[in-house]
Amino acid sequence: MVMPQAQSTGETIVQVRNLTNRFGSHTVHERLNLDVYRGEVLGVVGGSGTGKSVLLRSIVGLQTPVEGSVHIFGQDMLSMPPAQRSQLERRFGVLFQRGALFSSLTVTENVAMPLIEHAGLGRADAEHLAGMKIALAGLPAEAGAQYPASLSGGMIKRAALARALALDPAILFLDEPTAGLDPIGAGAFDELIVTLRDALGLTVFLVTHDLDTLYTICDRVAVLSNRQVLVAGPLDVVESTDDSWVQDYFHGPRGRAASHARRRALEIK
Ligand SMILES: Nc1ncnc2c1ncn2[C@@H]1O[C@H](COP(=O)(O)OP(=O)(O)OP(=O)(O)O)[C@@H](O)[C@H]1O
Ligand SMILES: [Mg+2]
Repeated sequence: MVMPQAQSTGETIVQVRNLTNRFGSHTVHERLNLDVYRGEVLGVVGGSGTGKSVLLRSIVGLQTPVEGSVHIFGQDMLSMPPAQRSQLERRFGVLFQRGALFSSLTVTENVAMPLIEHAGLGRADAEHLAGMKIALAGLPAEAGAQYPASLSGGMIKRAALARALALDPAILFLDEPTAGLDPIGAGAFDELIVTLRDALGLTVFLVTHDLDTLYTICDRVAVLSNRQVLVAGPLDVVESTDDSWVQDYFHGPRGRAASHARRRALEIK
């Protein structure tokens, strides 16, 4: 089992301040603050509809907030010129909650697309590099020629991960990457994330509902509740937060099982 290695240097590379997002009269975030540290795997949790995906989309520039700021590597995303901003956005690898592979393209073509569109590579070079990313994501070479419809759920996630890695991102944003996978497939995917983080020096912003994921690979956890980040910190701090959702989530039957498994794994180690 892979354990978090606390690679973080404590250096903030994503800084969200006073972020407010609203859809009509529905306020999703209100003056929300969050820091992501270089090299960490940050797990983002919260009930359905608390705004985890909207937060991710706000950070990567797909959702313009009503108020607030997002600094990436110390640069103010919302006030920078578009050309500079798209340069910065190329340093993000994003795996969206709803897959989003092009069904009419093979896996190789899907992964090659950002290399052709954003890195200006020719088709042959892009497909060669795509093959390397496909291997990095743990897929067999044959998967490259397949269309998404013929892949299993776990393989689709890996193909989407390969595409997120295409442009050698500094920060990987993953929105519920193990949702719908069986526990063994989910565990293998978690291990892959940590391996890639360590090998490529990535920072990982990971939205998840999966308690095993939190206990096995996250260095810190941020809980979204009531339009803000209720708490962000190491699991032991988060688990002991006096909040009914946190208590139900971490100390309900599923939370207890994941926590015991983690403690046993640490003892064995
Ligand atoms: N484009 C949009 N237009 C209107 N409302 C939106 C839009 N995107 C999100 N919302 C609303 O914002 C709220 C937060 O949505 P979000 O998708 O971030 O939730 P979530 O925490 O990711 O939930 P889940 O765990 O189910 O994925 C929801 O009430 C949702 O309906
Ligand atoms: Mg979501």
